[in-house]
Amino acid sequence: MTAEATKRPLEPDTIYNEDCLETMSRMPDCSVDLVVTSPPYDGMKSYNGYSFDFENVARELFRIIKEGGVVVWVVGDETRAGDETGTSFRQALYFKEIGFRLFDTMIWHKPNSFNFGSNDCYRQSFEYMFVLTKGKIATRNLIKDVPAKMAGRTVKGARRHVNGSRDTDVPDFVVPQYKRRDNVWDIMVAQERGTGKHPAVFPESLAADHILSWSNPGELVYDPFMGSGTVAKAAKALGRRFIGSEISAEYCRIADERLSKE
Ligand SMILES: C[S@@+](CC[C@H](N)C(=O)[O-])C[C@H]1O[C@@H](n2cnc3c(N)ncnc32)[C@H](O)[C@@H]1O
Repeated sequence: MTAEATKRPLEPDTIYNEDCLETMSRMPDCSVDLVVTSPPYDGMKSYNGYSFDFENVARELFRIIKEGGVVVWVVGDETRAGDETGTSFRQALYFKEIGFRLFDTMIWHKPNSFNFGSNDCYRQSFEYMFVLTKGKIATRNLIKDVPAKMAGRTVKGARRHVNGSRDTDVPDFVVPQYKRRDNVWDIMVAQERGTGKHPAVFPESLAADHILSWSNPGELVYDPFMGSGTVAKAAKALGRRFIGSEISAEYCRIADERLSKE
């Protein structure tokens, strides 16, 4: 990367074929609304041999994210000789150490996951989705798509206290048809169309549902590990702007191709 290249101003709706630290070095402080990403972790998969400097990436993410903005960090652990690495926990705690709040530890449950792990333990079927915020969260468009058992029924207001008493001034209300989701999301793993040989593609709905939850139309979404372009594709479809970094030229080509078909 030349000095000239590092001075290039960033264009929205672009994926940069470079190390994400280089892209972020050109981003102003507090300029990104939402980050949705999955870094390479442990030795689980080979991404054409590329790696990253976790602590510097975490600090740069804290610098570029707006006050109230969110970073969704999707990660899991490798098991080596009967011992999980604990990388995910270490990373979550490091994010807290540098100033992020751990707003929620969500789980991506993969009902159809392929068993990469050991046969000695239960089948490995989830990844963490750490939802980190810089200060008080600015946007929470919680998805309400779980049918409520009591839908349509009028129920007594029920603000209850720990000592068992209830407030009497809460009005009755009609239970809406849908309630908010749990923080465990069941999302099938599927090879999304047009993602070629990329080994770890997000399901499009995972990217889309986080973008809907933690950002508004017109806002800027960044993925420092863009891979085959799933976050960019979902951001574009949902009327957000995006920036991405992807170190592999091969994966950038896959991402550009997917986006051109949008
Ligand atoms: C888990 S994959 C992301 C997959 C992506 N969510 C998708 O749906 O295709 C991680 C990606 O990070 C890329 N990568 C690794 N080190 C990087 C770095 N330092 N900067 C930018 N990208 C990097 C890898 O090439 C790989 O494509």
